[in-house]
Order: sequence, then structure tokens, then C-alpha cells
Amino acid sequence: MSDSALKTVTVLGSGIMGAGIAQVAAMGGLDTFLYDVNDAALEKARGVIAGSLKKLAEKGKFPAADVDATLARVRTTTDFAAAVTPSDFVIEAIPEKLDLKQRTFVELERLTRPGVPLGSNTSSLMISAIAEPLRDKGRVIGVHFFNPVPVMRLIEIVLGPDSSPQALAATEALAKVMGKETVRVKEAPGFATSRINALIGLEAFRMLESGIASAEDIDKALKLGLNHPMGPFEMADLVGLDTRLSTIRYLHKTLGETFRPSPLMEKLVEEGRLGRKVGRGVYTYDAKGNRIPDATH
Ligand code: CAA
Repeated sequence: MSDSALKTVTVLGSGIMGAGIAQVAAMGGLDTFLYDVNDAALEKARGVIAGSLKKLAEKGKFPAADVDATLARVRTTTDFAAAVTPSDFVIEAIPEKLDLKQRTFVELERLTRPGVPLGSNTSSLMISAIAEPLRDKGRVIGVHFFNPVPVMRLIEIVLGPDSSPQALAATEALAKVMGKETVRVKEAPGFATSRINALIGLEAFRMLESGIASAEDIDKALKLGLNHPMGPFEMADLVGLDTRLSTIRYLHKTLGETFRPSPLMEKLVEEGRLGRKVGRGVYTYDAKGNRIPDATH
């Protein structure tokens, strides 16, 4: 697909990642559909996108004059067929459940034009497993973004054994339009990024469980001692503890004991402490997203 064939992008799922992906697509000038199952989620996503565009404009990283038009390019809808039928490239960012993704991709194959790439933002599942029930498995490709999407520069392109050269070329063209760099990775549990990132996060939880240091000090140690831009607990709260736990469970199943889930992480998820998105994770946040001091776990 040439760059010019790429006009309309559809993003499925309007959570943290879906909203960010829709935002960078619209910033690249693409007509963007953002689909979710309910209007409240879409409304929230629109607010997140508006806030991020404003922030970028204030910092001089995006023209203030383009903010309204960019926001207007994002069309939110709960009508799946209306969102995907006109699409030149679909990116799925729905929950990390294989059966849900497979059902969604079967519908995508039915409703989109033949050859339109079907991307998944999965952070750990196998592309071949998602593509398994499709007739044309070559259309499925991993398009893995990073949070916060408008700031992070990478798209990790994950190639299943059947991912076609056309899907790869289209993904690289899409990344260019979105202003992102790419790496190519053959599918393997956790790809390159999630596998390493999950392991660092998991080890931090194990250290906290065994009382080696406080969450704040472990975060501080990695930031100031190892120059990580954020600590592993800040990262877990950003990514979402539920998302992180489901990745770790999957890596445990596929790669073994190194990835055995942390009981503390499981407990926080059971208690609904899912991270920044709900105002409480390892740390606690006020309504504006600022951390409340000393409210650490
Ligand atoms: N939209 C627009 N701008 C944003 C933003 C957003 N959503 N979030 C942050 N920014 C901007 C800020 O305005 C700020 O701009 P200036 O530098 O011009 O001031 C800049 O980004 C830095 O932000 P902050 O000053 O608030 O804080 P910071 O310096 O700590 O940076 C961060 C924040 C960019 C998130 C940085 O901490 C960082 O890079 N953290 C690591 C993020 C990371 O590793 N993400 C990957 C997570 S794993 C994943 O996503 C994959 C997965 O599969 C789940």
C-alpha cells in the first residue's frame, strides 16, 4: 500500500492506548474512527485526547491552530461496522483476551476490504494465535505502541509467521505518517519490549514483598541510579496493574517460572487498585492525577 492509499484508520478500543493511537493517527492527518462498546468510554477518550493535544500545543510541540481540526478528525462511534467498513488500516486495542480478539478479527475480515491490514496492539499475545481463525492470516500484524502514545517514539512491529510483506510495508508507512520509529520483531512471548519490561516490574514487586525497600525508594533507585525515566511502580501505575498482570500471567504460562506472578500485584488487582486510570494503584492520585504524598502501599 502506498502512503496515499492510507487515508482512514480505525482504532478499536478507547482505553489509554486506543485513545493515544487515535490521537497520533489524527495528528498525522488521517481520518480516524475510534470505536468502543459504550459512549461513556468514548467521551472520556475524547477528553483525554483534547487534554493531550492542548498540552502538546502549550509546549510548542504541535501547532495550536491545528488542535481543533485534529480533534474533529477523530470520529467516535459505537457502531462497529460503520467504524471498520471504510478503513484502510485497522488497529485493535481491546482487552488482552485471545478469544475476544479472535472473534473481533473474524468480524474484521468479514467487514473490511480484502488486503486491508489488521493490526493488533497486543503487548504479549501471539499474532499467529490472533490470526488463527482467519482465512487470510497475512493481514494480521502486531502494531505495538507505548504509553503515553503521543510522547513515546517507538512502534514495535511484530511479525507472525504469516504476516504479509504488504501488511509490513503498510505498517511502516503508517508509522511514518504518525511520526514514529519502528523495530521489527518476530513473534515470541512478550516480543522484545514487554518481556524485559515485565521482568523488571515483577522483580520490583518481589523486592517490595520481601521488604527490601519501599516502593518510593525502589523507584528512586532506578531513576537516579540507573537513569530510567520512571520507576517500576510508577510504570505499573501508568500501564495499569491489570494489564501488567495479564501480560505476566501469559509470560508465566509460555516462558515459565521466571514470570510467576507476584502475590502482591495480584492482591492490588483484586482490590481494584489498577493504577492511575482509577486513581489508585501502588500509589494514590488525586482527581487531577497528581500523586498524593505518603499514600504509598
Ligand atoms: N500527551 C502529551 N504530552 C505528554 C503526555 C501526553 N499524554 N504525557 C507527558 N507529556 C509530555 C509532558 O508535557 C512533558 O513535556 P515537556 O518535556 O515539553 O515538558 C514531557 O512529555 C515529559 O513529561 P513530564 O515532564 O510530565 O514527566 P517526565 O519527564 O517524567 O516524562 C514520561 C513522562 C514521558 C511518561 C516519562 O516518564 C517516560 O518516558 N516514562 C517511561 C514511559 C515508558 O516506558 N512507557 C512504556 C510503558 S510500556 C508500554 O506502554 C507497552 C505495553 O505493552 C503496556
